[in-house]
Amino acid sequence: MTSSICQILIFLLLICPPSAKSVHFNYPAVFNFGDSNSDTGGLVSGLGRSLDPPNGQTYFKKPSGRFCDGRLIIDFLMDAMNLPYLNPYLDAIGAPNFRTGCNFATAGSTIHPATPFSVSPFSFGIQVAQFLRFKAKVQDLQAKSKIFDNYIPAQDSFQKALYMFDIGQNDLAGAFYSLTLDQILASIPTIISQFKDGIERLYEEGARNFWIHNTGPIGCLPQNIAKFGTNTSRLDEIRCVSSHNQASRLLNLQLHALCKTLQSQYPDSNVTHVDIFTIKSNLIANYSRYGFEQPLMACCGYGGPPLNYDRHISCGQTKLLNGSSVEAKGCSDSTKYIIWDGIHYTEAANQYVASQILTGKYSDP
Ligand SMILES: *[C@@H]1O[C@H](CO)[C@@H](O)[C@H](O)[C@H]1NC(C)=O
Ligand SMILES: *[C@@H]1O[C@H](CO)[C@@H](O)[C@H](O)[C@H]1NC(C)=O
Ligand SMILES: *[C@@H]1O[C@H](CO)[C@@H](O)[C@H](O)[C@H]1NC(C)=O
Ligand SMILES: *[C@@H]1O[C@H](CO)[C@@H](O)[C@H](O)[C@H]1NC(C)=O
Repeated sequence: MTSSICQILIFLLLICPPSAKSVHFNYPAVFNFGDSNSDTGGLVSGLGRSLDPPNGQTYFKKPSGRFCDGRLIIDFLMDAMNLPYLNPYLDAIGAPNFRTGCNFATAGSTIHPATPFSVSPFSFGIQVAQFLRFKAKVQDLQAKSKIFDNYIPAQDSFQKALYMFDIGQNDLAGAFYSLTLDQILASIPTIISQFKDGIERLYEEGARNFWIHNTGPIGCLPQNIAKFGTNTSRLDEIRCVSSHNQASRLLNLQLHALCKTLQSQYPDSNVTHVDIFTIKSNLIANYSRYGFEQPLMACCGYGGPPLNYDRHISCGQTKLLNGSSVEAKGCSDSTKYIIWDGIHYTEAANQYVASQILTGKYSDP
């Protein structure tokens, strides 16, 4: 009996050794570029807006500028690096500390240049330009005096830092309102090449460690299911909009290929591709295994099951709809939900995704 348990244990150790590859970060600073998936307050600072409660309620106890009830994936990754949460570049007030990094991400950002109708004017090219200005300004201050040293990155941090990216999902999601699937698929090489331009610019400025998240299954967001998935023939096996997930998959294939190209183009750098799509679709398909009860219904929203999402009213708002006042409220237990507000994930889901990233199984190399 005992010996057979031992055999099982030995077998288990052989198939999953305890030292299995996991992520160990050791960086003095992080510079992040992206959209709402990693916006720690950039859009609300940049536009002078605010989010309503219950955004932020789970962790910060008040809206934190994150489109979430609590922490984002990037917050959990910063924890894993033993670094403080990133201050947004656009946050001017309260002496934001940029010693260990800066966040250029803003909700709604796209890789392609913003238009007057974009949610965020701070598209990827602008975020890269903001970084260049940030770096120039830091070097200027360092040359003048030491009094800012506790607030700005050390000189060698720019080269040693981790440069993180999570952007592209709004390029796709936005395109579905005006283009056909074929047109969208055909536009992906342009999106990828605009992304490549930004990375190359950062490399020229001395960036060497690149950490690139691919795009999640955007067809699983209630916002897209409500608009494009009312006919069930448009849904895939995990009840998400197939066309949207198909676009995500193609973008991700080309993004992965780009990462390989960049790695061989720049042998003195580290380009890591992280497969967020696989982590999130597995979470949504197999939600009960990971302790969730609602895979696709928003915790904070209006309209009730199956999606609890109405595009006219966002989380925390009260509005007149059809002559009556309605409120997009939060659910009683956000840890049972994957989706927070119809477009973004809950803290509980973000924590799960971050834990999977940290196993190292989804990053290449
Ligand atoms: C749903 O889509 C199918 C296949 O495209 C089509 O035949 C059907 O008429 C659609 N149903 C509705 C209610 O639009
Ligand atoms: C790339 O990563 C390897 C392994 O972590 C490390 O030894 C090397 O110094 C890194 N290269 C750069 C340019 O940081
Ligand atoms: C759900 O779990 C099963 C069993 O582990 C796995 O084969 C499948 O790929 C998962 N679904 C998704 C979409 O990842
Ligand atoms: C408002 O009324 C329209 C038309 O009667 C209906 O389709 C829609 O679902 C209603 N919206 C809400 C939020 O009740």
